[in-house]
Amino acid sequence: MKKEPILSLKDVSVQYGGIQALDRVSIDIGAGEIVALMGPNGAGKSTVIKALFGLAPITHGSVHLYDQKITPVAHEMISRGIAYIPQGRQVFKHLTVYENLELGGYVLRNQKDVARSIEGLLNLFPTLREKLNAKAGSLSGGQQQLLTIARGLVSNPRIVLLDEPSLGLSPKIVKEVFALIKQINSERDIAVLVVEHSIKSVLSIADRAYVLAHGKVALHKDHSDEIDEQVLEKIFLTA
Ligand SMILES: Nc1ncnc2c1ncn2[C@@H]1O[C@H](COP(=O)(O)OP(=O)(O)OP(=O)(O)O)[C@@H](O)[C@H]1O
Ligand SMILES: [Mg+2]
Repeated sequence: MKKEPILSLKDVSVQYGGIQALDRVSIDIGAGEIVALMGPNGAGKSTVIKALFGLAPITHGSVHLYDQKITPVAHEMISRGIAYIPQGRQVFKHLTVYENLELGGYVLRNQKDVARSIEGLLNLFPTLREKLNAKAGSLSGGQQQLLTIARGLVSNPRIVLLDEPSLGLSPKIVKEVFALIKQINSERDIAVLVVEHSIKSVLSIADRAYVLAHGKVALHKDHSDEIDEQVLEKIFLTA
C-alpha cells in the first residue's frame, strides 16, 4: 500500500436474511490510492461499498476510518468526507443538470460554497458545463453517468466509493470515465474504491486490486499489474 489505510473493513460479515453476502472480508483503502474491486455477479462487491457506507447489516467485524472504529451511518458519511456513487445512473431526470449538482452539495455550509465547488468541477466535466440548464433526463447515458459522478464530488469528499461506473457505456465512454477517475484521483488527491466489471480499464488505473467471489476475498494484489489474467478468468468462470 502506498500510504496508511484511511478506510477499512476488518473481518466484516454481512447477512441479508438467510443470505451471507460477505464472509469475513477485510479491505483497506489507503490515502490517495485507487483500489479496484472485481468479481462475478453476486460476489458481494456492492455490499462491500454499502457496508463501508452504513447501508448493509454487518453481523461481524468492524469499519475503521482514520484508524478509529466507527459505526457507519449513511447520512453522516458525507460530512465525514466519504461519497457513495451508486450503481446505475441515478440522476433526477426532471431537474436540470445544475440542480442535480446542487443536490450533491447539501452538506456544504452555504450556497456560495456549493456554487464554488460546482464551478471547480465543471472544469473537469466540460460536457456538463454545456448542458447546465438541460433536464438531466435529456442527457445521453454516458452524460448521465458523468453527472452522477460529478454530483458525488460536489461535497468535496476525501474518499469516493464508486459502484460500476462503466455499466452500459460504450468502450469509448468507458475509457473517458476511467481517465476522469484517474484525473480526479491525482489532481484532488481523492482516494477511490471502484467496483468494476471492465477488468482491463480498471486495472489500467488502479494501484491495488481485490477480487471477491462468493462473499470472500479470493485474491488481493498490492500491485494491480501482478494480477494474472488466467487466475482472474478462473475465478470468474467458476463462481
Ligand atoms: N437487500 C438485499 N436483500 C437480500 N439479499 C441481497 C440484498 N442485497 C444483496 N443481496 C444478495 O447479496 C449477494 C451479494 O450482492 P451484491 O449486490 O453485493 O453483489 P455484486 O457483487 O455487487 O453483484 P453485481 O455484479 O451483480 O452488481 C447476492 O447474493 C445478493 O442477492
Ligand atoms: Mg453490484
